[in-house]
Amino acid sequence: MSYKVAVVGATGNVGRELLSVLAERAFPVSEVVALASTQSIGKAVSFGDATLKVKALDHYDFKGTDIVLMSAGSAVSKPWAPKIAAAGALVIDNASFWRLDRDVPLIVPEVNASALETGIKKGIVANPNCAIAQLVVALKPLHDAATIKRVVVATYQSVSGAGKAAMDELFRQTRAVFVADPMEHKHFTKQIAFNVIPHIQEFHASGYTNEEFKMMAEVQKILDPNILLTATCVRVPVFIGHSEAVNVEFERPITAEKARAVLREAPGVLVVDKREDGGYITPVEAAGEDATYVSRIRKDPTVENGLSLWVVSDNLRKGAALNAVQIAECIINRKLLKKAA
Ligand SMILES: NC(=O)c1ccc[n+]([C@@H]2O[C@H](COP(=O)([O-])OP(=O)(O)OC[C@H]3O[C@@H](n4cnc5c(N)ncnc54)[C@H](OP(=O)(O)O)[C@@H]3O)[C@@H](O)[C@H]2O)c1
Repeated sequence: MSYKVAVVGATGNVGRELLSVLAERAFPVSEVVALASTQSIGKAVSFGDATLKVKALDHYDFKGTDIVLMSAGSAVSKPWAPKIAAAGALVIDNASFWRLDRDVPLIVPEVNASALETGIKKGIVANPNCAIAQLVVALKPLHDAATIKRVVVATYQSVSGAGKAAMDELFRQTRAVFVADPMEHKHFTKQIAFNVIPHIQEFHASGYTNEEFKMMAEVQKILDPNILLTATCVRVPVFIGHSEAVNVEFERPITAEKARAVLREAPGVLVVDKREDGGYITPVEAAGEDATYVSRIRKDPTVENGLSLWVVSDNLRKGAALNAVQIAECIINRKLLKKAA
């Protein structure tokens, strides 16, 4: 059995990665269609060894398409996901708009694939925020072992999480520092080159940013509504790979050794934790890889049952494209495609 797949946002960071992941994993496609805005009509994108010519979403008829992987932002997903689902295709969406909808499952396959069984009511499945997928992949086995009460997380998020224009801004600013050009910023609120910015997305009245709010809400939806989480989300001058300093408080005792053993067995996780110079993972090493890496696992002596850890993954892969393709594979393996559409 093979499937007609369309990628919406195919010229973007996530869209290009979606095409690579589909090709790398030999996803069973009968045809792949690359879609973007009208300004990209005719542009070329790679799909394995093949080159696809980009077509415009606005002029595309989805009849006969089986699976649509969307990564073109909420403004596109909000109107288009229901229209595409009505045409009979299953939508797997990377934008934030549908994530907290009660009738849209929010899925990280290693954590809550079973929510697909009864959850697909609108023909739409959501992919979480890029900082969440890696976090829940690391937290799930620890939650099963000792029940998480509270998480305090500080993120170090790469500029690719904000799209291709944001990557270009870091490149231009870095160059400007060396050649003493004027420093310009359009995408970020302050200089990002050689700097860090404690602000991702708009502020809520509470003082938290929307990115921080999403971390709490999405972890609760995917993993457990009883988990309390507070986050500080920070943009850093890294091109690819999000890092997270995570502090976890548990209901029951769990040692660092037990956590390391549990994480070593967990799907999607690679433990690199040598307690010596360089014995941990940084985003440069995680870029282009599928795993969620966990390092620096240690006891937090300031609470009764506490651990601290360092979690790193490629935000364009596990944080977006890989996770979306894994969702599609789960749906096919569980024979849910026709039922969902
Ligand atoms: N980057 C990440 O780590 C990450 C992780 C998880 C989720 N996401 C989400 O994925 C989405 C895309 O992110 P990205 O980083 O790939 O952004 P990006 O690099 O800026 O790419 C945006 C894509 O959307 C397309 N697009 C924009 N407006 C469109 C329209 N009106 N009709 C059709 N296509 C349109 C663009 O096409 P043109 O080139 O033709 O403008 C481009 O292909 C966002 O919702 C983001 O929140 C991103």
